[in-house]
Amino acid sequence: MPLAAAIRTIPDYPKKGILFRDITTLLGDAKAFRKAVDELVQPWCGGKIDKVAGMEARGFILGGAVAHQLSAGFIPIRKKGKLPHRVVSVAYELEYGVDEMEMHEDAVSPGERVILVDDLIATGGTAEGAVKLLRQGGADVVAACFVIDLPDLAGVKRLQALGVPVRTLVAFA
Ligand code: PRP
Ligand code: ADE
Repeated sequence: MPLAAAIRTIPDYPKKGILFRDITTLLGDAKAFRKAVDELVQPWCGGKIDKVAGMEARGFILGGAVAHQLSAGFIPIRKKGKLPHRVVSVAYELEYGVDEMEMHEDAVSPGERVILVDDLIATGGTAEGAVKLLRQGGADVVAACFVIDLPDLAGVKRLQALGVPVRTLVAFA
């Protein structure tokens, strides 16, 4: 089954006019979940990736699986106020709001090769914030990968403009 068929669409969530692409159906389907993770990691199998960074919350699920597959460490990038140690923070915009995200200041060491993982890229605001945090720590952000791209919102172009190669598996235009 194609990955797109395992993703559910909910109209008008969380706000009127948003078509919410719900990956819980993909995650609940063992074959689709494995296929998504296998396809996400494919370019880096056998290559040296030190860490995978995942954005709260859905990026934790996919990023954890990707980190395991690549025998890499995992960096949680969290919404404001959730991390217990000293943090670096950045404000970012979403398709439907504004927020702040944080990373532990010692989560990454200079020169470490890091892949960013999330379920979906829309405007790219979340991913851009995460790239800024990782680069602030001296990381080499090797790539960003997402199961879903919403190309109308141009997030991939925004990340590419920052010099980050992007991998996406399914586009909903
Ligand atoms: C969603 C999604 C991405 C982000 C993409 O997360 O999981 O992280 O939006 O949007 P962008 O490209 O416009 O920044 P959300 O902020 O809804 O958080 P959640 O995973 O905690 O629900
Ligand atoms: N995050 C931002 N836009 C989204 C969408 N349309 N569906 C699911 N998650 C999102």
